[in-house]
Amino acid sequence: MTRPKRIEIVEVGPRDGLQNEVQHLSPSERITLIEQLSDAGLVQIEAGAFVSTRWVPQMAGSDEILTALNNRPDLRLPVLVPNLKGYNNARAAGAKEIAVFGAATETFSQKNINCSVAASLDRFAEVCQHAISDGIYIRGYISCVLGCPYEGKVNPAQVASMAQRLIDMGCSEVSLGDTIGIGTADNARILVEHCAELIGIDRISVHFHDTYGQALANILACIDLGVSTVDTAVGGLGGCPYAKGSAGNVATEDVVYLLNGLGIETGINLDKLVEITKNLSQRLNHPPASRVARAKLATLP
Ligand code: HMG
Ligand code: MG
Repeated sequence: MTRPKRIEIVEVGPRDGLQNEVQHLSPSERITLIEQLSDAGLVQIEAGAFVSTRWVPQMAGSDEILTALNNRPDLRLPVLVPNLKGYNNARAAGAKEIAVFGAATETFSQKNINCSVAASLDRFAEVCQHAISDGIYIRGYISCVLGCPYEGKVNPAQVASMAQRLIDMGCSEVSLGDTIGIGTADNARILVEHCAELIGIDRISVHFHDTYGQALANILACIDLGVSTVDTAVGGLGGCPYAKGSAGNVATEDVVYLLNGLGIETGINLDKLVEITKNLSQRLNHPPASRVARAKLATLP
């Protein structure tokens, strides 16, 4: 067992969380949310997406968010970029970190970014060339790594070879997305082992959605293999517009509670997170998915 002493949390709530909400938060509300998350100790916060607002209107104004937070060199604020147009827009707003996002299956790739897996990799390679020469940090996502809503089972060797392609084109890390939250601990472990063999454990992040309530078990299985970066969303916000029925991301609070219990450092203040979740759930008009937030809020007067 090579459980890390510290885990880096990548907070994806302001992007992956809010992209699926019925209530659209304005750019200024999202800026405030990012500032609050930073105050709770989060350093890596996915700030938005430079995608078509016709496809994902919730992410409109991502440029305003980056522009407003350009004076925060203490924060790492990656943004999603699907193609060169998105990259140029992100750079114009001052992006210093980007994430390209592909899928393990053809159908999901078509539904999500309207192109084949091969075409998406060509686009990402083009984006990466520019990003490398601009000195921009690049994260690569792969969606549907443990199952696809359209194609079912996914071969871990295929995911590993896509992860390798992303690293070869210049991504510094690859986030393995269980977009529909269908994975279980052994599948997650097998997938990470396949990927680690090709790209090394240090370049792997894990990104679980909690549809079947397996996210924490999966995270534990992966960190016991040495994975030290975990994506989470405050309150358990999220879902994916192109994966119907998939639940939100694993909640940041739930993961921090797990890691606190294991004595693993995160630098994150749980009570501040719960307070953020309380306010967000009022604003978004639904109770938090986070079990920890619900438990803690139930004890408040
Ligand atoms: P398209 O329609 O194929 O693009 O969309 P196109 O090249 O044919 O252009 C059509 C129009 O879109 C043109 O405008 C372009 O300029 C414009 P028009 O001439 O008609 O006025 N366009 C853009 N506008 C803004 N930003 C851009 C851009 N590119 C073209 N970057 C596209 C292709 C990728 C843009 C579209 O499919 C899209 O925006 N998809 C959204 C994908 C998305 O954000 N999905 C959710 C995030 S992924 C996810 O959640 C999974 C993840 O979290 C991991 C996990 O959970 O497992 C990462
Ligand atoms: Mg996600």
